[in-house]
Amino acid sequence: MNMRAPDLSFEPVDALAILAKAAGDGLRLNILRALCNDSFGVLELAQIFAMGQSGISHHLKVLAQAGLVATRREGNAIFYRRALPQSEQPGGLLHSALLDEVDRLGLPADTQLRIKQVHSQRAAASADFFARMAASFQAQQDLIAGLPQYRDSVLALLDAIGFAADAQAIEIGPGDGAFLPELARRFAQVTALDNSPAMLELARQRCQQDGLDNVQLQLADALHDDYPGADCLVLNMVLHHFAAPAEALQQLAQRLKPGGSLLLSELCSHNQSWAREACGDLWLGFEQDDLSRWAIGAGLTPSESLYVGLKNGFQIQIRHFAKPQTFSGPSVAFTDQPEDPKR
Ligand SMILES: C[S@@+](CC[C@H](N)C(=O)[O-])C[C@H]1O[C@@H](n2cnc3c(N)ncnc32)[C@H](O)[C@@H]1O
Repeated sequence: MNMRAPDLSFEPVDALAILAKAAGDGLRLNILRALCNDSFGVLELAQIFAMGQSGISHHLKVLAQAGLVATRREGNAIFYRRALPQSEQPGGLLHSALLDEVDRLGLPADTQLRIKQVHSQRAAASADFFARMAASFQAQQDLIAGLPQYRDSVLALLDAIGFAADAQAIEIGPGDGAFLPELARRFAQVTALDNSPAMLELARQRCQQDGLDNVQLQLADALHDDYPGADCLVLNMVLHHFAAPAEALQQLAQRLKPGGSLLLSELCSHNQSWAREACGDLWLGFEQDDLSRWAIGAGLTPSESLYVGLKNGFQIQIRHFAKPQTFSGPSVAFTDQPEDPKR
């Protein structure tokens, strides 16, 4: 009798089986849910799911082998985020449907609470940095990119958008206030909003020195405190200090008036981990596609962008995200704000 040798080649059906097996576990589905709009390090995920590092690492490995999560090095830590479904690959349609289904489920309340704790720890590390570093702010900024290196590009985008004569702007995280004179010239009313009293004091001195009488200073957390909406929100080198940037974009989108504009200057993704210590950065820049995806998830439309390469190897992206006149709201639910669906 003729025996056929077993076929050891990797068939598309095997990829599907690996995906199905990886997804066949409640904890792993909850990990995918937690990664909806965020990325977390192994230690953070161990904290969020209240389990040991080796246990969570095992589950992450299974998810990574199935192509359900991707990794990114952030300094010494590996951060996990969701992998994007590839519809033309084996398992791609299932992957996509799985994420849709997972996003309809809520995370257990205790898990949501621990996500909040992780975000609070990140935010506290950032606030602590600016409280300590206000005195040497400019020198610290110049280590990577100072305002002179992106000011003209932000202004070029701002001027290309064109705002009504009575338009109002908010600069979030104005630092020492060096960009405020430009905004004060272009907008009827400007609010400079910072959660660091030390940094806001620097901005106040700048307003006084330049006689900016249409700039109002507000000590507030841009993500958690109340403040009125505006036609334009400007964040220069601020997003990488936010604990959960995708969620932040959703919250910021709510602050924009219909037809308004969000202007972001940010570092492109980099691997200079010293920036965490030296500049208090929580994130080592962002992938352009991630910013676009998060903005779309927040109901905003990616518009013009400019890129500025620096001699020190860093690259800056200056992005304009527009809020449609009819805003349909965020398209995904907040993972860490159960009482206020959401970032
Ligand atoms: C790196 S500095 C950027 C300063 C300035 N925009 C520039 O381009 O030079 C970041 C600023 O964001 C502020 N900031 C960080 N997190 C914030 C938050 N949650 N709400 C308001 N301001 C925040 C910091 O206090 C600091 O002034």
